[in-house]
Order: sequence, then C-alpha cells, then structure tokens
Amino acid sequence: MDLQLASFGDLDQISTIEKETNEYPWTPNNFKSSLDAGNCSIVLKDNKNILGYAFFSVIGTDSHLLNITVSKNYQGKGYGKKILQKVLFQSKVLGASIVFLEVRVSNHKAINFYEKFGFKRDAIRYNYYDGNPKEDALLMSKQGL
Ligand SMILES: CC(C)(COP(=O)(O)OP(=O)(O)OC[C@H]1O[C@@H](n2cnc3c(N)ncnc32)[C@H](O)[C@@H]1OP(=O)(O)O)[C@@H](O)C(=O)NCCC(=O)NCCS
Repeated sequence: MDLQLASFGDLDQISTIEKETNEYPWTPNNFKSSLDAGNCSIVLKDNKNILGYAFFSVIGTDSHLLNITVSKNYQGKGYGKKILQKVLFQSKVLGASIVFLEVRVSNHKAINFYEKFGFKRDAIRYNYYDGNPKEDALLMSKQGL
C-alpha cells in the first residue's frame, strides 16, 4: 500500500472510480484541470491498483479539500482515513493552518467521517450543488493541523 502524488497517467483509473462511486462525479477534464492548475493530490495504490484519492489546494494558510473518494468496494476499511491524514499532513507541511471543505447535506457518511477528524460545521450554503432539486452544502473546517 502506497500513498503517492497523482500523475496524469493515473487519471483514467481515477475517473473510472469517480464515476462508479459518486452520484455527481467530477469529469476526466475536472481532474486534468486540477492537476494543470497545480493543485495537490494524493493517490492510495495497492501495486498499480488505485483504491482512493484526494485533490486539494493550498493557498497561503488555507487548504481546501476539493475531492476525496475511496473506491466503492474498498470503503469502510480505513483507507479514507489514511488519505485524509495525509491531506492534513501535507497541508500543514505546505504552510496551511486550516482546511476547508464543502459536503452535500445528505452525505451523512462523509459528514461523520469528517467530524471524526475534528472538522466543525461552519455554515450552510444554499442550493450550492447541481441536481434536481439543487442541494445545500455544509461548509466545514478543521483548524490547528
Ligand atoms: C467518505 C469516504 C471518503 C470515507 O472513506 P472510507 O475509507 O469509507 O472511511 P474509513 O473506513 O477510513 O472510515 C473512517 C471513519 O469514517 C466514518 N465512517 C466510515 N464509513 C461510515 C459509514 N458508512 N457511516 C458512518 N460513518 C462512517 C467512521 O467514523 C470511520 O471511523 P471508524 O471506522 O473508526 O468508525 C468514502 O466513504 C467515500 O469515498 N465516499 C464517497 C465519496 C464521498 O462522499 N466523498 C466525500 C465528498 S465531500
């Protein structure tokens, strides 16, 4: 098991997992643009097999978690925890003192996961997510990395 930076060569596998796992997936182009923009990334690999990944951006003292996903068949085994721990560590190394994120208010599993790591509920952003109907986002943050 290995945690690495994502490379452009990982994006096909990542996009396949994303489509299988998320109801409103990032497109392959979203991932490519994220790497092009110089955002940070982490991929959890078992040999060449990608089990999960995260994309985040660090600007000054703020880190923003943009996407964290564990492949459906591998969820609930502690892999998300490994990836998020690495995001927090890398954010700190890069100078961040706080991590922000948005999550769909219906995504109780993810909200529970973030709270376990000490993320606090900050605010609701109404109709933030596409869908029919649109869905509110819960804004969360964790200070003191
Ligand atoms: C959210 C996600 C990344 C968590 O990764 P994971 O590998 O399944 O989580 P882990 O096994 O590392 O679990 C860590 C903690 O999260 C919580 N958690 C995990 N699965 C849960 C579930 N089904 N219900 C409630 N809490 C859960 C638990 O507190 C767990 O700690 P514990 O095992 O000590 O009780 C993963 O479920 C996922 O990819 N979901 C789909 C994509 C998504 O929603 N991403 C977040 C969008 S903002």
